[in-house]
Amino acid sequence: MDYKNLIIEAANGIAVLTVNSPKTLNALNGEVLGELESAFYELNRNDAVKAVIVTGAGDKAFVAGADIKEMASMSAYEGHQFGLKGQRVMMLIEKMTKPVIAAVNGYALGGGLELALACDFIYASSKAKLGFPEVTLGIMPGFGGTQNLARLIGPNRANELIFTGRMIDAEKACAWGIVNEVIAPEELMAKARDTAAAITGVGTLGVSYAKNAIANGLNMTKEDGFRYEASLFGVLFATKDQKEGMSAFVDKRKAAFTGK
Ligand code: COA
Repeated sequence: MDYKNLIIEAANGIAVLTVNSPKTLNALNGEVLGELESAFYELNRNDAVKAVIVTGAGDKAFVAGADIKEMASMSAYEGHQFGLKGQRVMMLIEKMTKPVIAAVNGYALGGGLELALACDFIYASSKAKLGFPEVTLGIMPGFGGTQNLARLIGPNRANELIFTGRMIDAEKACAWGIVNEVIAPEELMAKARDTAAAITGVGTLGVSYAKNAIANGLNMTKEDGFRYEASLFGVLFATKDQKEGMSAFVDKRKAAFTGK
């Protein structure tokens, strides 16, 4: 499918999705959000894709937020619908059956940070800046940011970041647990690709079910989470990947997983 604001390149089971609207530092307007919704839906359906990397075009921004010029004249109803549309995209990413890595190459602000937080984990360039400037515009994060950030790093640091509207650098974001690793700008994509390749080389059904157990388990009591984990664990014993993975170990050879 052709997109006006996205570039999608797929090879060897890894798809790289680049948000590409450099005139607005890749800001998320209604059209970009609509394209992201279609793209993630398609990437999820495509069995040839085993992992996805999300990044931004250019060397300045990952995504500089929701499109302020588009939001400026919205009514309350339109603002509500816009928030729901953004949340739908973030939920879609969280519900993907394959891992999604954010490679944050520059500014990840507002909706841009929300996009990164919806991914399974974040690598950031050492020149990235992250933040929620919404309060400086008289609004608040509305694409899942208040929920995802507070769940990820706890309310206190989330409160500080969201209430001040200030940006933090990649090192601080890493120390706070928002970012897994800070990488030199020129090595960011190689690092993301290397990790994606490691993920596509193992039993991808196991990865997919583990993602499901972690994401859904966070919303359950620990006991329910354990029960849910046990069910998914059991189901994996009905897969070819489990037979192949374990017989390869016993035979002392490399497993040839099929994702079935
Ligand atoms: N929505 C719409 N347009 C945006 C945008 C956004 N979120 N972020 C940047 N742009 C546009 C700018 O208006 C500018 O367009 P112009 O050339 O037509 O004036 C262009 O992108 C380049 O941005 P500019 O501000 O000139 O770059 P900078 O290097 O001086 O500053 C930022 C970079 C990211 C600090 C600054 O653009 C910014 O603060 N953006 C808004 C961030 C924000 O509040 N996001 C949350 C929205 S809820």
